[in-house]
Amino acid sequence: MIPDRIAFTVAADQPGPKISRHIFGQFAEHLGRCVYEGIWVGEDSPIPNVRGLRSDVVAALRAIKVPNLRWPGGCFADAYHWRNGIGPREKRLRMRNDTWGQIETNAFGTHEFLDLCAQVGCEPVICGNLGSGTVQEMRDWVEYLNAPVGTVLANERAANGHPAPYGVRFWGVGNESWGCGGVMRPEYYADEFRRYSNFLGNYEKTRLYRIATGPAVDDYAWTEVIMRECTNPRFNGAVMDGLSLHYYMNGLTPPAKAPRLMPATKFDAADWNRVMAHGWFLDELLTRHTAIMDRHDPQRRIGLVVDEWGAWYENDPSHPANELYQQQTIRDAVLAALTLNLFIAHAERVSMANVAQVINVLHAMILTFGDKMVRTPSYHVFDLYTPHQDATRLPVTGAPQMRAHEDGAYPRVSVTASRAADGSITVTLAHTDPTQPVTVELTFAGLPAVGSAKAGRMLTAPALTDINTPSDPNRVASVPWTDFSFDGAKLIATLPPACIAVMSFA
Ligand code: AHR
Repeated sequence: MIPDRIAFTVAADQPGPKISRHIFGQFAEHLGRCVYEGIWVGEDSPIPNVRGLRSDVVAALRAIKVPNLRWPGGCFADAYHWRNGIGPREKRLRMRNDTWGQIETNAFGTHEFLDLCAQVGCEPVICGNLGSGTVQEMRDWVEYLNAPVGTVLANERAANGHPAPYGVRFWGVGNESWGCGGVMRPEYYADEFRRYSNFLGNYEKTRLYRIATGPAVDDYAWTEVIMRECTNPRFNGAVMDGLSLHYYMNGLTPPAKAPRLMPATKFDAADWNRVMAHGWFLDELLTRHTAIMDRHDPQRRIGLVVDEWGAWYENDPSHPANELYQQQTIRDAVLAALTLNLFIAHAERVSMANVAQVINVLHAMILTFGDKMVRTPSYHVFDLYTPHQDATRLPVTGAPQMRAHEDGAYPRVSVTASRAADGSITVTLAHTDPTQPVTVELTFAGLPAVGSAKAGRMLTAPALTDINTPSDPNRVASVPWTDFSFDGAKLIATLPPACIAVMSFA
């Protein structure tokens, strides 16, 4: 059978918005085995570590150029009191994690988190406690971290081992304040956000980027109220820099169809379609929230920050349900690529995004098994997308072959193209069809011919439900991709079912 052909044109000589590297951000919560075991093993652990932080995990995260890491939650953020996590570790309080039901030793606190960010080479994003904390507590955290030595709090930081200010600029002001963060009305939260934000200081060169709790999925009324109330010049309208959006593709939130969470690794064609369609629904969410933001902020000063996203399945029965642990297949890799493509397509408004979560929880990059670690299929997607970080998005036109399913439509092929500062062009192709190959023709308009082609890479899987395990860690991993040809400025490639391919050329 001759595969279908889909043609696209990349306007290779056109301008476009910058694709912020912060779109490729990560999220770590004190939940299950994300922080404890996944990141923190302690200085005395037989697992190789630097100051208690797992060396294998740090190296793997460095390799995909993680730009930022959000912490300590999630819902946990609105129950977290930062003073419990500073000072001599042996004196820190051992308590119950009320949010997720585990024991919290507070061994991993503010300094350990910032050490992790330094080791990974990423920027910290701290989500402050608005739900059960106080304005004083959050403003003190900012001063503790960012003020130069000379104030009581900065001196305390210095005594705890870090004389130089950390200069943390990204601050979430509460999390899901419509739900676990306090069950607030948007009008009430808007007042609280302004009150808190007003007291969070800019120290030295660190101008804070304050992120307000945004809507749950399709709660457009929430976006309307926060944008109206927090951009009003009468009430210090410059106090909000970002509005968050959370979207989990679990089939239970709009466009809901599934009666319950789906298994992560057992699925049929209908389940595949459901996950892809739910993923692509993000296009509508971003479009509609952006339209509201555009009315209140036509200059697009305020970023849409999708600081939690990912597939959310039934927990893996090998772990307690409150760990939110799930395995991963090529389905999640294709979903991740579709999602990243949507963030890039909406780069004019989307300033940051954080996949939930980085290790051992939900749509993870890494799974740990005692002293072993495996990269998930989605890890390889983030790896393939690194050339897009801070590059200029190039316009792509063509008919992606939208396919309608019971849960909604999604494209057969989704393409992102960008030009890096050094002039090199990168194209990523996500092929969503789980059973049939497709031939893609990509014309690079504006180029007489395509220059020296660098070898591409491709991520696919021997079987749709295959997973990576300690005994078979690279079953679903990217491999060199050379199976394409050029006809002048046209790339022609036949893609296997369910794959992500990347090709860069100078
Ligand atoms: O990522 C797991 C949880 O999902 C987060 O704590 C919360 O913000 C969201 O509901």
